[in-house]
Amino acid sequence: KRIAILASGTGTNAERIVRYFQEKGTAEVAWIIASRASAGVIERAARLHVPCKVITPDGFASGEAFRFLKENEIDFIVLAGFLSRVPDEIVHAYPQKIVNIHPSLLPKFGGKGMYGMHVHEAVLAAGETESGITIQYVSEKYDEGAFILQAKCPVLSDDTPDTLAARVHELEYRYYPEVIEKLIKK
Ligand code: GRF
Repeated sequence: KRIAILASGTGTNAERIVRYFQEKGTAEVAWIIASRASAGVIERAARLHVPCKVITPDGFASGEAFRFLKENEIDFIVLAGFLSRVPDEIVHAYPQKIVNIHPSLLPKFGGKGMYGMHVHEAVLAAGETESGITIQYVSEKYDEGAFILQAKCPVLSDDTPDTLAARVHELEYRYYPEVIEKLIKK
């Protein structure tokens, strides 16, 4: 199976997923699609020898991304820190074949503006005693796709957004590649 990873940021999750499948050979990360020309994931892709294409949010809206996925025979789509909208035509063409990861226990701390560090800041501000990750399908209503897996970690009294983010990232690295592998076998 041919996977495309969509990312907007530094791409540490993308790297873990690429390495996982390079080692296991159970699928291939055929493309990384970056939504910004300045995304750190682009350099990471080069180091990992994975082809990388920049498609801006406009290119998603205009159908360029959809055509690209089809032309490159992508079977499964993984969002890893992807901040743009996945258009309906892609969602419809890939039923149950697009997954997203969110760095909180959804439905808490999801929705508009809740991405990256904002999530961890909000979790700390709310005085939560635990946080975690949610892996979900992507449906037309972005953050409302069915949950596939949630995993928890504690929030410590001396946490900063950075220390909490690091703990949550560890959960992401531990679970996301395995979950993807299980889903593509289906
Ligand atoms: C992750 O925490 C992911 O859950 C979120 O954005 C972050 C991406 O980090 N939606 P990275 O680019 O994989 O390092």
